[in-house]
Amino acid sequence: MENEQSPSATTAIRGAVLTYMGDAFLDGIDSTMRYESDAIVAMKDGKITHFGPAKDVQAQLPAGTQVKQYGKDQLILAGFIDCHVHYPQTQIIGAYGEQLIDWLNKYTFVAEQQFADKQHASDVAKVFLKECLRAGTTTPMAYCTVHPQSVDAYFEEASALNMRTIAGKIMMDRNAPDALTDTPKGGYDETKSLIDKWHGKGRNLYCVTPRFAPTSSPEQMEMTGAVCNENPGTYLQSHVSENRGEVAWVKELYPDLKGYLDTYDHFKQLGPRAVYGHGIWLSEEELQRCHETGTAIAHCPTSNMFLGSGHFNLKNAKDPKRPVRVGLATDLGAGTSFSMLQTLNETYKAAQLNGNKLSAGEAFYLATRGTAQALYLEDKIGSIGVGMEADVIVLDLKSTPIIEYRMRYCQDLEEALFIQMTMADDRAVQDTYVAGKLLYSRPQQNYA
Ligand code: GUN
Ligand code: ZN
Repeated sequence: MENEQSPSATTAIRGAVLTYMGDAFLDGIDSTMRYESDAIVAMKDGKITHFGPAKDVQAQLPAGTQVKQYGKDQLILAGFIDCHVHYPQTQIIGAYGEQLIDWLNKYTFVAEQQFADKQHASDVAKVFLKECLRAGTTTPMAYCTVHPQSVDAYFEEASALNMRTIAGKIMMDRNAPDALTDTPKGGYDETKSLIDKWHGKGRNLYCVTPRFAPTSSPEQMEMTGAVCNENPGTYLQSHVSENRGEVAWVKELYPDLKGYLDTYDHFKQLGPRAVYGHGIWLSEEELQRCHETGTAIAHCPTSNMFLGSGHFNLKNAKDPKRPVRVGLATDLGAGTSFSMLQTLNETYKAAQLNGNKLSAGEAFYLATRGTAQALYLEDKIGSIGVGMEADVIVLDLKSTPIIEYRMRYCQDLEEALFIQMTMADDRAVQDTYVAGKLLYSRPQQNYA
């Protein structure tokens, strides 16, 4: 007998669904976007078991399955994916006045020292993951700190929620406070033992995490490439070409290499599942190299704006002649919002500043399946389909009085989506399901 308490019960929801197949940037929106005005999504044992028009699916559900009905102003989507975020920086979002290197020294490196204390790390991880769920983000790809205990704390909290997540210990052996540095061998050994402990355990995936080329010596860069390549299936994350001063500094530190991306290429840190934050100032040759190697760029528009770093050119990166994998990311705490809707708002504005347009159809693809594709996870997360992991969110399309008012004049789906990405935020997230379980439900809102 199916019932709500049993772990193997079917959870079924009914309403309008938006999802994607294929690659919306390469194949076009018309052939990749799927909208069902009245669909059922059924979930069991963490996976989606049924999806399709309600009239077809209803009869296929196990006898006695209760179907939760959503309203005409709600939209069911795959959970958002944030492919570059620093959970230890939750406590410094909105730190005033500096650009990248001064911001790191003045705020970030001070806050990160507190993560030597595992209890502090666990407390922050809890807040961080709860905020992700409130914002509809079901998969964060997170930086921890140099302390292995900051990684244990993070994966323990994520495991308690059964979230799919990717994370790793930062490695730094220079140009940072002593309390935040490791050594080439120490960083290698700690990373290796964290991989053994966490990679592939439940829904956790490990990410080898050299912070960025300026904080690693050539010896550490060598060992970083080695530990990643010796452990197939792991991820690698770092930062590249975020700030013009930073790019010049890397040239001084690595004068014999071709440029910033080459510091990673030289030490065998490019390839599938390598994800680099920002990439604003990458040259055409460097973008070509990302394309050839299958390396992804994390587009972090709220952070790029906040630190005055510049505007990543998404359209150029996706040029069909040599498309680069690009995922969407908050980059908190330099990023200013957990909300991927607000991140899309800034993605649109960055595109405008580059003289380009980003359609709402492309934007919602980017925040879901597009980022899954950048992470080589599109067979698991980022879209709604039978066999996919059951990370699903429900948006309220009239989440504030002014959005409700604006929606009265809305003509079609594209406009409705564009209004959401321009005006909405975490308040639009009605429900968040993780592995088929309802983990967040927005409290009743009372607007007079
Ligand atoms: N570059 C190196 N570390 C960081 C970081 O923590 N945040 C951002 N935005 N850029 C970085
Ligand atoms: Zn970052």
